[in-house]
Amino acid sequence: MVESALRERTSGEVSASSLQASLLPALAVRDVSHGFFLRDTHLQVLDRVDFSVGVGEFIALLGPSGCGKSTLLRLVAGLETPVSGVVATEEGPILGPDPSRILVFQDPTLFPWRKVWDNIAIGLEARGLLRASRARVDDVLRLVGLQNFANAYPHQLSGGMAQRVSLARALVNDPKFLLLDEPLGKLDALTRLSMQGEIVRIWQSAGFVALLVTHDIEEALLMATRVLVFSERPARIKADIRIDKAYPRHRDDEDLVRQRHEILTLLGHASDW
Ligand SMILES: Nc1ncnc2c1ncn2[C@@H]1O[C@H](COP(=O)(O)OP(=O)(O)OP(=O)(O)O)[C@@H](O)[C@H]1O
Ligand SMILES: [Mg+2]
Repeated sequence: MVESALRERTSGEVSASSLQASLLPALAVRDVSHGFFLRDTHLQVLDRVDFSVGVGEFIALLGPSGCGKSTLLRLVAGLETPVSGVVATEEGPILGPDPSRILVFQDPTLFPWRKVWDNIAIGLEARGLLRASRARVDDVLRLVGLQNFANAYPHQLSGGMAQRVSLARALVNDPKFLLLDEPLGKLDALTRLSMQGEIVRIWQSAGFVALLVTHDIEEALLMATRVLVFSERPARIKADIRIDKAYPRHRDDEDLVRQRHEILTLLGHASDW
């Protein structure tokens, strides 16, 4: 899809290859380098990162702290444009934010004075779509299991519930890309486990492309169809590992245990486990 959109843009003609859309990637990150100026020095953060994501894939991004994972998500969200290279969807190069690509952070950042329902509705409200889409807010509330908390305020929720609201606030926009930046990072281990399963279930039913940044190798292996392992900054792709397992997955599965060791070795921690 991306390649055809790029071709159409450059040649100005509609190509027949759009018929093969589903065979082509939903997202292309092509030879992307990026960095920042800090006073007089340039900090290079991404080094010629290149990968494609197919329709319906769930990609986990693993790498050392500070290597550039969140920066990469920000590029896909359109909050920044790469210094060189292209990040493109089927619609062409990403030039800015769009409700079809939504970021969810570690902190739910809910508005404390708005009820759960109104927090979720905020994106639709801002786009003038709320009047016609009220049922959609109810639907996503049900999807994240909070239908009985529509009238609660954020301070009346647990951490896991608040993060579910944050997820629902993203899902209400029916995104094509859900960009998850350590969304479960602050939750206790058991809530985290159940939310890993819930996110996979929602992803399977909603059909968006998921990009998940996590520091938890097990989480990546339990949730993703592919794991990209990045180097230290400036981030390069060290490995692109397919996780070919049906859901729900089990942490003791011998293939997953083997892949966990493979990834730990790539991250330089082979002897720690
Ligand atoms: N807007 C910015 N201006 C200057 N430097 C930045 C900016 N955003 C990120 N950086 C730098 O880019 C590098 C990568 O940051 P990024 O947040 O992408 O890392 P990360 O892989 O997500 O790390 P972590 O796993 O700790 O969240 C860091 O050194 C950070 O200081
Ligand atoms: Mg980060």
